[in-house]
Order: sequence, then structure tokens, then C-alpha cells
Amino acid sequence: MATSAQNRLLIKGGRVVNDDMMQDADVYIEDGIIKQVGTNLHTPGGTRVVEAKGHLVMPGGIDTHTHMQLPFMGTFAVDDFYTGTRAALAGGTTMIMDFAIPQKGESLVEAYHRWRSWADPKVCCDYALHVGVTWWCDKVGKEMEELTEEHGINSFKMFMAYKDTWQLDDHDLLESFKQCKEIGALAQVHAENGDIIKENTAKLLDMGITGPEGHELSRPEEVEAEATNRACVLANQIGCPLYICNIMSKSAASALGEHRRRGTLVWGETIAAALGTDGSHYYNPCWQHAAGHVLSPPLRNDSSTPSSLMELLDVGDLQTTGTDNCTFSASQKALGKDDFTKIPNGVNGVEDRMSVIWEKGVVSGKIDPCKFVAVTSTNAAKIFNIYPKKGRIAVGSDADIVVWNPHATRTISAKTHYQAVDFNIFEGMEVHGIADYVICHGRVVVEEGNVRAVSGMGKFVPTPSHSPYVYGRVQERDIANAPKKVDRAPYDGPVIQLNNQGLTQAVESSIIPTNQEFYTRGPTRCGGLNLHDSSFHVSGAQMNDKSPKRPSVKVHNPPGGKASGSFW
Ligand code: URP
Ligand code: ZN
Repeated sequence: MATSAQNRLLIKGGRVVNDDMMQDADVYIEDGIIKQVGTNLHTPGGTRVVEAKGHLVMPGGIDTHTHMQLPFMGTFAVDDFYTGTRAALAGGTTMIMDFAIPQKGESLVEAYHRWRSWADPKVCCDYALHVGVTWWCDKVGKEMEELTEEHGINSFKMFMAYKDTWQLDDHDLLESFKQCKEIGALAQVHAENGDIIKENTAKLLDMGITGPEGHELSRPEEVEAEATNRACVLANQIGCPLYICNIMSKSAASALGEHRRRGTLVWGETIAAALGTDGSHYYNPCWQHAAGHVLSPPLRNDSSTPSSLMELLDVGDLQTTGTDNCTFSASQKALGKDDFTKIPNGVNGVEDRMSVIWEKGVVSGKIDPCKFVAVTSTNAAKIFNIYPKKGRIAVGSDADIVVWNPHATRTISAKTHYQAVDFNIFEGMEVHGIADYVICHGRVVVEEGNVRAVSGMGKFVPTPSHSPYVYGRVQERDIANAPKKVDRAPYDGPVIQLNNQGLTQAVESSIIPTNQEFYTRGPTRCGGLNLHDSSFHVSGAQMNDKSPKRPSVKVHNPPGGKASGSFW
């Protein structure tokens, strides 16, 4: 097919940054695909040139976690798929991953179609969908399979919070994890203990704490850490790869880190809000300001959290960054003016994520530009199985590119941002790093900082199941960890009889040893202690029952090992 000059673009004189290398190189694009990367490229006449001298040429950002126009807590998030994705482009993000969330009892496939019908006509950048599992029955499992096989969904999110609406109990979590594994999808969780939150909330309201600080007080760090740990244990028992969404605290991150070091297949996402600000805002005397920061899990009232989370991105304990962008304006937040439980949960971030991470990560010297690319784009592309189409500057990849000016600065403000919401949690923050040009599908959509995107320009990006990055080890691991049966001669001694209450009756006297008889039997065939001689009896009568205390044994190596892997 003939290529019109309009579809040819040369990004010239910049420094190309991928997650694993940097090189001074030009990038030539045709029809939305990167065709050449190198120096002294031969390009057809009439090719448009973007001068990138002094700039970094990086894969466009992938925001792994957004909620555009989410129907939530009685209202809809104010940034929709148009304003939200336009704002994403302004900040250098060329793809978002949103969540289709059915209500309890509702079809997952129908929810998926509803989200597609909202997003497709509006999106300015590319998008993929995760699908929520907010209830469980066999039909849900079948729909998960259908979504994976026919609709390009490879991740499902389960909520451990939002009791009485979206929360799943452990049984249903296990069922959903089993099904994710069966269909080669990634299980995601919102990790907070919803039962504890419910208890704490009632106590706080009883005490007259109705303001936004109650939100944070009702869900302290350990409530997030407990759920993180529990999700890791449950997923590990199933052998299902797991992704923890929006990790907001050091405690939850350390629970995740411990599991990763023990070999649990788990990945962690944190968000711009947690990296760029903290929970001290919940104690601001201005109600509107404090309520503007309400999201779940909450920001932590600990000024060291943002830098710790950034360090964990650097060392690889955390892998991806999203935003949980779910914006509500002041008048919507005011639904909870007398009761913090009614403040719609959610904050901004989709527009500022790249700048905030650049500022707090690269400018502070915590991460280098390659790691910046890894945590803002490449790792997400790998985990969600769209790499190297997305997340890389290489021949054959989609031409989703940000031409980044690392030295320019701007001050973040709700007065100047593209988002529809009237509040910005990063208000007043001066950041280095501006997306001077953004190219999406080979089209220049941001030019010298001005957004030229049109609704419907973006595309739905199917995410194939069985991501090798996620599932590459699962089969071998299942085989290696499979339980091994012990071959032994069948037991042929006497067996006590149970009566119909399940209690022992008429136990053969010969198998109740007296102290004198104890250890009088010969060894078993294998030479070990004859179990008939042990001090334990199914009847509950023990050797030293005259003593009020039963002996306890500390098991150092429990069956299956301390951090047993999965075996089915
Ligand atoms: O506060 C948040 N995160 N709002 C959106 C819903 C969710 O929990 O993801
Ligand atoms: Zn969310």
C-alpha cells in the first residue's frame, strides 16, 4: 500500500531510551509502526520531521489502572474516556488500562460491552480493559473464559474491600484464582480487609469522627498488608500468578516483597498519588482539600512512604505504576460532607503520572531513565502481554512515543490541567520533565505541549492470555512441586470402631498401652517406632491426661515446607 507523506514521520536527533539501553538514534515511522531506528536513516521525501535534539525519545506511558466515568458511590467519575485520555496524552501516556466492573449478579460480558460502548467513541489514546469479578458462580467462571478467548481480556480484578458491594470472601477469591489459572489470565486484587474496615468505620462514626481523616483511620496500613499477604498465600496455594493493584503503604509493599523472595508469582503496582504525595492531607483543616485526597487504599500519613515506594520500584519489588485515576469534583465529594464513608473514593493522576515519577524518581536520583521507562511502560506491556508491540522503541513496535524534555519545568495545577476534575492532588508541585511531543499510532497528538487529539482516535488493544512473562514458569513449577505419594505396605493392624455419634466405642484393650506396657512392641517393618505404642489416641485420651496440659509440638518443617508451592 502506498504511504502518504502524512503517515511518515522522522524523530530526529534525540536519545532513544528503552528499559535496557539508551542510544542516540533517529526513529522513522510509517503508518503507525516504527520502521527504522538508527543514525543516517534513508527516509522518503516529504517525511515530516520532529526535531528531538536534547530530548529523550521514550515509549509512551502505559497507565495500568484508571476508572474513567466509573459509576461509583452514587455518582460517575467526572473524567470520562474523552477528557481522561486526552489528559493522558498531554502527560505522555499513550495507553490506559481501565476496569469494566459489573455489579454483583451482573454479567461480566455485558459489563465488558458496556465499557466498550462508552470508551470506543471517546478514547483519544489506546486502551485495554481489565474486568472485575464482584461475585462468584460457575457462570462467572464461564464468562471469564469467554472474555479471555473472544474479547481480548487477560486480567481479572477481585476486591477484598468494599464489603456488601464488590468484596469477595476467601472462598470466592480461591475460586476466581483457580479460574484465572485455568484460562491463563492474571488475577489482580484490591488488597484491603473489608471486614476490618467495616468494624473500624462503625467505631469511628460512633466516636463522632465523620471527616475525611476517618477514611484513613478506618483502614490503617496493616489492614492493607494483611490483605496483601492473604492474597499472596491464597494465590500461591493455587499456583495462580497474582498482581496487587495500587500498593499504597510500606507494610503492604514489604508483605509483597517477602512473598516475591519466597518465590510467589506476584507483581506489584503502585500509583502516582502514593509516589507524589501523602496522607497528611487528610488532616488539613479544609474539608474540601482533605476530601479531595480520599481514595482506597488511602494515602499514608507518613512522609517517608513516597520515597520508599520509589526505591522499591528501583530494586524491582514493585514493577508498574498506574494512577487509579477516578476523579470526583468538589460537589461530588460533598456527598460525604457529614460522613466520610459517603465521600466518593478516587483522585487524579493520569495526566501527571509521568512528570511526578520523573521528578520524584529520576530528578531525585532514585531511578535512571531506563528504569523510568520500565516502570511507566515496559513492565506493564510485558505483564499484560502486549510487548514489544507496546513498551518499546524498536522496529515493528507501535509508534507510541513521547519526546521528553527532561529539563523543562512546569507547575501542576487544577487551573491549567486538561482533566475535567476541579482539583489536583499535586497542586503547586514543580516538576521537571515535559512531554513536548507525543506520538500515538504514528500521529503527532501533542505538539510543543498542545494536545491535538480527537475523540475516537484511540483503539482497544486486546491483551492475549498466557502472558509468557507471567505464565512462563507455572507449568514447570506445578510439576516440580507436585505432591509425591509415599509407597508403603497397607496397614493391617486393628482399627477401632466408631459409633454413630462419631465417638470411639469399645476400643480393643490391647491397643491402649499402660505405662508399663509402653514401648513393648517390636519395631515396625521399616524399623521405626510402632505407632500402636505412641501416646496419641483418636479417642482423645492421652498418655498424660492426668496433667491438665496437653503436650504441644512445635513443627519446624510443616508438611509441604514453610513456603510450600502449589501442587495443582
Ligand atoms: O479510591 C479508589 N480507588 N476508587 C476507585 C475504585 C477502586 O477501588 O479502584
Ligand atoms: Zn482502582
